[in-house]
Amino acid sequence: MQSVGLVFGGKSAEHEISVISAKNINHILSQIPMKVVRIYMNRRGAFFLIESRDFPEADDLEKLNELSESSDATAAIKAGALKGHPLSLHPGTFNPVRKTENGETIDIDIFLPIVHGTGGEDGILQGLFHTLDRPFVGCDVFASSLGMDKSAMKVHLKEAGIPSARHRTFFVHEKDSIRFSEIQQELGLPLFVKPARQGSSVGVSRATDEESFKKACEMAFRFDNCILIEEQILGKEIECAVLGNESPRASIIGQILPKDGFYSYESKYIDADGAKLLIPADITEAESSAVQKLALQTFRTLYCEGLARVDCFLTDKGEIYINEINTLPGFTNISMYPTLWEKTGLSRPDLLKALLDLALQRKKRQDALETRH
Ligand SMILES: Nc1ncnc2c1ncn2[C@@H]1O[C@H](COP(=O)(O)OP(=O)(O)O)[C@@H](O)[C@H]1O
Ligand SMILES: [Mg+2]
Repeated sequence: MQSVGLVFGGKSAEHEISVISAKNINHILSQIPMKVVRIYMNRRGAFFLIESRDFPEADDLEKLNELSESSDATAAIKAGALKGHPLSLHPGTFNPVRKTENGETIDIDIFLPIVHGTGGEDGILQGLFHTLDRPFVGCDVFASSLGMDKSAMKVHLKEAGIPSARHRTFFVHEKDSIRFSEIQQELGLPLFVKPARQGSSVGVSRATDEESFKKACEMAFRFDNCILIEEQILGKEIECAVLGNESPRASIIGQILPKDGFYSYESKYIDADGAKLLIPADITEAESSAVQKLALQTFRTLYCEGLARVDCFLTDKGEIYINEINTLPGFTNISMYPTLWEKTGLSRPDLLKALLDLALQRKKRQDALETRH
């Protein structure tokens, strides 16, 4: 039986969502013949092998964050109903994943990362899987980095002629040169201000005047050293799930109906009535086909493989703008990505089987490349 290393948690503002996504994936994997090795990345980025009968409770996992430097480096830690074994990684060896306490090797045939945001969705973890020489689900290093960096992504979209909101990018050292009047003249009002590399709407604000604009910039700079200021696009907020390597497929389209017109962190995760998901989206068949086509073009343009959720705006005039791409989209029981595929006719277990298969295919292709000449 193949052994899947389910990696979750992580050093990012989306840690909690990752734990919920992983719990759901763990449940789906139990429906297919697959051995699941649960690997928790704590908030400092330390890896633990989780031994527990059921998927661990968030509170127990949290205890793996209260460790001192010496305690997490050695013995297994008991926290409630779980045992967390610190892991050490040994790139360049045949058994690269081992328990730190006794050197016991952990067999992992394939990694399935579900770590959202920085350090997980941005190529960093993907690079680690390469150095451990194991296949992994999802986009490769460069596509992950590109998908995470909204500013770099827009450069590539523009080059391919794919529309996205007009914007300005600022680094923290340019903070003092941000002129509200100039930007307002160029991009209008309201403006959306966001960290370049974040997710789950963390640090994203809508600015309607100079005061809220200043606050929005401060807020965004708390989460990244680079921010984007965008014109507002008025339209339906719609999402398309994409699956595949060389021949990706697009799902039916879903729609987000945020209560106050802005799909904020609160509306995503805190306010139960903050937003509704509508599947299929309230759009025409022609619009739906156009969105699917653009989502596939976006997926290819950004070098994606495996999976991605492409988020767009559809205006009253029928214009489609790409808002962003998520290369490790939420995978909770109610998340858009798995639900879109289910409604397209691909069950959750079949979706995971397909993702694991795509990862193996890519590794085979990469391994077939010559490294000597
Ligand atoms: N240019 C824009 N015009 C209108 N709404 C926007 C714009 N940019 C972001 N939003 C709103 O803010 C939300 C979060 O922004 P987004 O860029 O998707 O960040 P994140 O990666 O954190 O999800 C979007 O889902 C949307 O509701
Ligand atoms: Mg978003």
